[in-house]
Amino acid sequence: MKYGYFDDQNREYVITQPDTPLPWINYLGCQAYFGIISNTAGGYSFYRDARLRRITRYRYNNVPYDFGGRYIYLRDEASGEFWSPSWQPTRNKLEEYTCRHGMGYTTIGSKYKGIEARTRYFVPLDENLEIWQLTVTNHRAQAAELSVFSVIEFCLWDAQDDSTNFQRNFSIGQVEIEDGVIYHKTEYRERRDHFAYFACSERIAGYDTQREAFLGPYRGWENPAAVERGRVSNSVAHGWAPVGSHHVKLLLKPGESHQVVFVLGYQENPREEKFDPSDSQIINKKSAKAVIAKYRVAANADAAFKKLSEYWNELLGLCQVDTPDVHTNRMVNIWNAYQCMATFNMSRSASFYESGIGRGLGFRDSNQDLLGFVHMVPGRARERILDLTATQLPSGGAYHQYQPLTKRGNNDVGSGFNDDPHWLIIGVSAYIKETGDWSILDEAVPYDNVPGSEMPLYEHLQRSFRYTLERLGPHGLPLIGRADWNDCLNLNCFSDSPGQSFQTTTNKDGKVAESVFIAGLFLLTGRELADIARHRGLAGEASAYLGEVAKMEKTIRQHGWDGEWFIRAYDDFSRKVGSKENAEGKIFIETQGFCTLAGVGLEDGLAARALESTRKLLATKHGIVLQQPAYSKYYLEYGEISSYPPGYKENAGIFCHNNPWVMIGETRVGNGDGAHDYYTRINPSAREEISEVHRCEPYVYAQMIAGRDAPTHGEAKNSWLTGTAAWNYYAITQWILGIRTSFDGMLIAPVIPKSWRGFRVSRKFRGVTYEIEVKRAGDGNQVSLEVNGAPVKGNLVPLPAPGMKTVSVKATLR
Ligand code: BGC
Ligand code: NOJ
Repeated sequence: MKYGYFDDQNREYVITQPDTPLPWINYLGCQAYFGIISNTAGGYSFYRDARLRRITRYRYNNVPYDFGGRYIYLRDEASGEFWSPSWQPTRNKLEEYTCRHGMGYTTIGSKYKGIEARTRYFVPLDENLEIWQLTVTNHRAQAAELSVFSVIEFCLWDAQDDSTNFQRNFSIGQVEIEDGVIYHKTEYRERRDHFAYFACSERIAGYDTQREAFLGPYRGWENPAAVERGRVSNSVAHGWAPVGSHHVKLLLKPGESHQVVFVLGYQENPREEKFDPSDSQIINKKSAKAVIAKYRVAANADAAFKKLSEYWNELLGLCQVDTPDVHTNRMVNIWNAYQCMATFNMSRSASFYESGIGRGLGFRDSNQDLLGFVHMVPGRARERILDLTATQLPSGGAYHQYQPLTKRGNNDVGSGFNDDPHWLIIGVSAYIKETGDWSILDEAVPYDNVPGSEMPLYEHLQRSFRYTLERLGPHGLPLIGRADWNDCLNLNCFSDSPGQSFQTTTNKDGKVAESVFIAGLFLLTGRELADIARHRGLAGEASAYLGEVAKMEKTIRQHGWDGEWFIRAYDDFSRKVGSKENAEGKIFIETQGFCTLAGVGLEDGLAARALESTRKLLATKHGIVLQQPAYSKYYLEYGEISSYPPGYKENAGIFCHNNPWVMIGETRVGNGDGAHDYYTRINPSAREEISEVHRCEPYVYAQMIAGRDAPTHGEAKNSWLTGTAAWNYYAITQWILGIRTSFDGMLIAPVIPKSWRGFRVSRKFRGVTYEIEVKRAGDGNQVSLEVNGAPVKGNLVPLPAPGMKTVSVKATLR
């Protein structure tokens, strides 16, 4: 069953029924001012940091769900009837409801008793504000006298404090109202130099800023007293809960349309210019007034919208594919790339599942996310890499997370996730392969943000690699620390107290438990680093890295191979995890994926056997589960993984992030059918028809799909902010379609299904557009190339002469 359809032409998903199984959201903003918005106008906005600069309030895990939003009410003055054109909060039975989630904007509209109302929400580029363009059309035969009410609820900035510290917060709320603009200034008089404003294009009939005045006691958003009676009360918030509501009256002739523009924004003032007059406590509104004046004019809002569309056209235009599979095309060309940008902007901070409070930018996550967006925003990827690097510790380890506003490592979570430093090598090498910008390696970056500790980025990479060499366990495999990629395999945790964090509790000294996963990762990063060293003219260093890689590969074969698949780890008792010797958790996906993608056993069949075991034991029609058999009880020595009921999350859920590792592994053994089959099983677009099972948005990946041990097998959860986005994008574009960046240029190495006759790709790479056409002339993956009409040996497209803007590549597969 579907709840809408893809409109690929307009790069939109069109939802045609408001009561989707879960709120289906979109993101607004792409630089500093952000928001999430659901298909019924739920969601919230923030400036840079979803916790520390939360502008509007959202009620997570509330019932009914998805409350707090960008709400509009219409009231028919003749009958007194009122409704929300976005369905929530009033939930009237609407006609012709549609929500169009597009690239950086959402338009929600409907008809009700002859009145059509459509609101387009977006954040203009280079501004710290959002625009709501509400167009109301009277399709009745008579004139309509209508009242429009807008409403948002202000969050008192720190979202964590906002939802806990009521003894203080109920007494601090403050606003100012001037010329119909509502200014939210809680805490401005003391240490904040930022405020929010909510403005409207029309002369208003009134306003409310005190929530109780607008709603009335014991009422909810579905029937505010002010809307019911058709009159706001010009309330001025003092303490309690500040809101912003404008009342606008419209008189529409039959057939007439009118547009009302609302502008909600965030503004900072220099500290010494906070007040106007300067000896008062009144906000200096000069800067805000200028932007408000600009955007309350519909033509300016339209122009800003056009610029936003151009921005997305340009980003998405950098890589466009035309394959025989509509789901591949749609995801690569539109939604997967778009989701990669969301993970760039949000990391794991703000979604329907991430509260915006707990998690800053993950070190591991952000580096992997790079794989999906580096071609779109290389300059900002560079900045991200340098920010991440500055949170590396002198040991080579890294803070697990940092806060985007301060760019400082998060002390509460700390470090000790022993895979973390390696992802920096992956991120940097992806950046250099994409851009050819070797200069990044010479950037001086501090450790732990301590001034004076600056070292070239290259030195950071060296320490990342050494970090593991200095932390090998009894089998010569890398010690796991708090956890590796699988945050829930906590082999040093041994927690038996409720409420303790699995991630930060360490009860063992960590000298025994080892990770075969990190060993696989080490092979990959060791080779990358060797390549980088070679390019820097450090041949000796390069061969030393390769020596360590060879040694580790031997160790994997000796202690990491279980006969039919790769072992996952050794626990604190040096017992195998993910082995036939275990009663539960006999086989894990991570090492099957990562060791094969890192090339272990390609020659002697180990890789093929591991992949065969994966297919036999882990693959389901909804994707590949993380491990089998699921843990049925809590294992003190394994930690959080066994805390989840069987089939969810890391305990044998389909953890979509790691499925692409297996896809890449399949390409490495030359199995294009297998790789693309796995790709399709979790491709959200290919799952659209079973939306009632999948339940999450059909246009973006979710972190998890319930595994076969769960009663809800096939149900997705935790959509949007997941490494799944980058890895799937990377797997399909660079390994299955095989249009692969390398240090020396573009490689053409497709491993596609046998039934495909070919495909085309247009890919901008280092300033040059590559028009690539791949044709099948046989069943294999052997490539012969013609570049600009001339045959070329091998499968690397030579870098074009300076000044050349297009390269035409014809590849034949045999
Ligand atoms: C989740 C993991 C996540 C971790 C982050 C755990 O509860 O299951 O997926 O990486 O929290 O803190
Ligand atoms: C989600 C986390 O964001 C990521 O860092 C981790 O690798 C996976 N969960 C697996 O536990």
